[in-house]
Amino acid sequence: MLRTGVRLLALALCVSAGGDFDWTKNEKTSFYFGTFPTGFSWGVGSSAYQTEGAWNTDGKGMSIWDVFAHKKGKISSNETGDSSCEGYYKFKDDINLMKEMKLNHYRFSVSWPRILPSGLRSEHVNEKGIRYYSDLIDLLLNSKITPVVTLYHWDLPQVLQEKYGGWQNASMVGYFNEFANLCFERFGNRVKHWITFNNPWSISVEGYETGEHAPGLRTRGSGAYKAAHHIIKAHAKVWHTYDMKWRSKQKGLIGISLSADWGEPVDVSNQRDVEAAERYIHFYLGWFATPLFHGDYPAVMKEYIGRKSGQQGLGASRLPVFSPQEKSYIRGTVDFLGLGHYTTRYVTQKNYPSGFGDSYFADRDLAELVDPKWPDPGSEWLYSVPWGFRRLLNFVKTQYGNPMIYVTENGVSEKMPCTDLCDDWRMQYFREYINELLKAVRDGVNVKGYTAWSLLDGFEWDEGFSERFGLYFVDFRNKNKPRFPKASVQFYKRIISSNGFPSQREVESWKRKAVETCSSSNQLLAADPLIGHMEMVTEIVVPTICTLCILLSAVFFMFLLRRRL
Ligand code: NOJ
Repeated sequence: MLRTGVRLLALALCVSAGGDFDWTKNEKTSFYFGTFPTGFSWGVGSSAYQTEGAWNTDGKGMSIWDVFAHKKGKISSNETGDSSCEGYYKFKDDINLMKEMKLNHYRFSVSWPRILPSGLRSEHVNEKGIRYYSDLIDLLLNSKITPVVTLYHWDLPQVLQEKYGGWQNASMVGYFNEFANLCFERFGNRVKHWITFNNPWSISVEGYETGEHAPGLRTRGSGAYKAAHHIIKAHAKVWHTYDMKWRSKQKGLIGISLSADWGEPVDVSNQRDVEAAERYIHFYLGWFATPLFHGDYPAVMKEYIGRKSGQQGLGASRLPVFSPQEKSYIRGTVDFLGLGHYTTRYVTQKNYPSGFGDSYFADRDLAELVDPKWPDPGSEWLYSVPWGFRRLLNFVKTQYGNPMIYVTENGVSEKMPCTDLCDDWRMQYFREYINELLKAVRDGVNVKGYTAWSLLDGFEWDEGFSERFGLYFVDFRNKNKPRFPKASVQFYKRIISSNGFPSQREVESWKRKAVETCSSSNQLLAADPLIGHMEMVTEIVVPTICTLCILLSAVFFMFLLRRRL
């Protein structure tokens, strides 16, 4: 009894005080030469809406992203993922690319409306959709690539949005569980790594707070908290279903992929800055990780949102509350933690007065800053700050009891006009971030695998095709969507085959060698408009001329016949 009390007290201290994470110890050490533990898994990632295309093919239902992207003004240049990389048709080619890279795993997502067009299992199961994922999984396994399957990478069936309001509604918990159960039933004999949700922070904040993402709602200060609450419950329900029904037979693992930037105090010797940075991380990662590991929202979220809700004259906190039963139901429902990480911010304390209005961002009482010296090669938000990655990983270790981690996303983009396949900055990014990961593994963080984001350039949500994260360049102008390797393919391949960075001598030559190969790909890409031109000749010009010839001959014959008569 006493021991349980001590454990609970220790846990409570840990939850509220950031474990024993040492904020002052930020060693920005030099490059570390060494390798990852044997069996470390190397992979690449993708998601259904970003790559599959085939948006209305073979019985697929509509998702909230299909509808959102078709509305004018929501996506940069009004682009859509209707055809994207045509991954639905080209998965065999893509698996060949993965084989060449000698990857250990491939992370992809299942489009819920592709297999359940109305979202509901009781209504209709689309066998063609099931067949597509089944074939993909089989081919991966035949190619010795482990499938890592995300169940929800943002493409909710539109029907569920229209009928119930999507993740605002508690009924989603049950519907998602039915969908997950169907996936376990059909694919679980072959899939052993499941990710329930990808980046629930984004689903909640960008989908329901800012409205930049589908379903595009702006229910500020409350909608995101409500959506997150249902997502956490849905994750836990799926974990329990798997545990009770499938685990003993299928022996798989159920994780979730959370994304988090690192927040570094502007001044580590200033307690207010340290607390602000801690709040930043708790409002980002802790919002989801703390309930799943410890059973409830971070104390700091309950305190801040509760206080501000009171000041706004609300009777209850805008942050929903878990009942005691729910707390014990959700606690401990992660077999592994998927972590998506790209960038870092400096954080300092900033008060938002209560008159500012409801908002997730104002609830945090902080300001985010960046160092203008940080490289910023692509997306506006993405600064390359490798040391933040090691800090985040160590934070997770101390905060959540050193869980098993798979890095489920990490990478960097480039802006559209850049068609140079010699992506020096991406090689640099991978080199440094993966090196910080190696240091974290040396620190004792329990990381089992790394997933580069992404295999292909794809539909980058509200940015359309204007930001490219791919190791492979996709020529979206050409309707065949050909893929061209960027130099980083060769570079990543070397990291994989060496399982890290064995020695200075070897690693130094990698970039140079990778650049040698990319100039030939550059030439191929430069020739691609020519290929496009030739296609136009064969597919438009030649048939038009033929039709004209036939018409003219018909007229000519009629003319001859008339003269004879
Ligand atoms: C996180 C999302 O999960 C992924 O879909 C997106 O492409 C990357 N971030 C890059 O923005």
